[in-house]
Amino acid sequence: MLPGKRRTTFMSLAAAVFGAVMLQSVSSQNEPTIASSEHTTLPSDSHSPPITLQCNLSSAHGAHEESFWMKNGEEIEETRTANRNTEYKLVKPRGDDAASYMCVYTFETAPPANATIEVKAAPDITGHKRSENKNEGQRAVLYCKSVGFPYPNWTWRKLDSGAFMDIDNSSGRFSVSNKDNYTELRIDNLDISLDPGEYQCNATNMIGTSSITSILRVRSHLAPLWPLLGVLAEVIILVVIIVVYEKRKKPDDIQDDDEPAGPMKTNSTNNHKDKNLRQRNTN
Ligand SMILES: *[C@@H]1O[C@H](CO)[C@@H](O)[C@H](O)[C@H]1NC(C)=O
Ligand SMILES: *[C@@H]1O[C@H](CO)[C@@H](O)[C@H](O)[C@H]1NC(C)=O
Ligand SMILES: *[C@@H]1O[C@H](CO)[C@@H](O)[C@H](O)[C@H]1NC(C)=O
Ligand SMILES: *[C@@H]1O[C@H](CO)[C@@H](O)[C@H](O)[C@H]1NC(C)=O
Ligand SMILES: *[C@@H]1O[C@H](CO)[C@@H](O)[C@H](O)[C@H]1NC(C)=O
Ligand SMILES: *[C@@H]1O[C@H](CO)[C@@H](O)[C@H](O)[C@H]1NC(C)=O
Repeated sequence: MLPGKRRTTFMSLAAAVFGAVMLQSVSSQNEPTIASSEHTTLPSDSHSPPITLQCNLSSAHGAHEESFWMKNGEEIEETRTANRNTEYKLVKPRGDDAASYMCVYTFETAPPANATIEVKAAPDITGHKRSENKNEGQRAVLYCKSVGFPYPNWTWRKLDSGAFMDIDNSSGRFSVSNKDNYTELRIDNLDISLDPGEYQCNATNMIGTSSITSILRVRSHLAPLWPLLGVLAEVIILVVIIVVYEKRKKPDDIQDDDEPAGPMKTNSTNNHKDKNLRQRNTN
């Protein structure tokens, strides 16, 4: 048995709960009721058949004015109608049709009423930066954007000895900003020995997951000077070649003058020998 004081507390609590339940059911009798289509999920690998989203206003206090459809919180144009039943067709449902849809009924004398229908789909990354080329000390920005619903949780990883690992932010140079279907990875003050490599963005929601990689290349400070250094090197090599050629030319000329004389002398000695031989033969 409960002591007197406790019992009265219990009774008043029960009365309060009972009253609240009554109030709830009374007010919900006045509230408009909307019968709406079930939430659906788009298949990830095959084409989805057309989808028709429906809302039927089944009870309302007083006449309604009109209804319209919203997608992710924004009104879809040309969906306003005065009918109690309204539909919105997704003729060829694709990734970017996955969203939170809402039918909204407006009333002359009451606040609007609405119902939500979610069309879910696994994330699909539809945009990213394939590669980013920067100089050391500069800032690199990589991004990914997706379709799919609910909006994914985004993560970034870096390829490290064959596996994608969480990014080491001990230098504090990495920052990530996510906005619904978009993520951005910024790397400040690029380090040529640590930062180049493959980065992966990963989008995961309750339906599925998707990821894609971007390549970051970091060039040395001297990189912009390379064309200039190239021209300089060319000029130096040309000068060296000319100087060497000019120096080699003089001794060559002298040798060239000698050469025709050589064979002539040997020829003449041979001739002498031949003469001697012939003379000996005749003897
Ligand atoms: C809405 O009403 C139409 C016509 O009465 C019916 O075919 C449809 O199934 C209803 N939709 C829902 C979601 O109740
Ligand atoms: C939808 O209805 C809820 C209450 O049921 C309300 O809080 C919300 O603001 C409504 N949203 C829109 C877009 O009308
Ligand atoms: C991403 O979401 C915004 C609203 O948050 C929307 O306007 C935009 O169309 C979406 N982009 C894609 C690719 O789905
Ligand atoms: C990395 O560290 C910096 C500085 O502590 C911080 O502002 C930033 O949010 C961190 N980035 C990530 C991705 O955690
Ligand atoms: C996304 O992140 C939130 C908060 O960190 C977490 O509660 C939720 O379970 C995550 N969702 C998925 C699909 O991983
Ligand atoms: C994305 O990250 C999640 C959580 O770590 C993981 O389970 C999932 O396999 C990753 N997705 C891809 C496509 O790599």
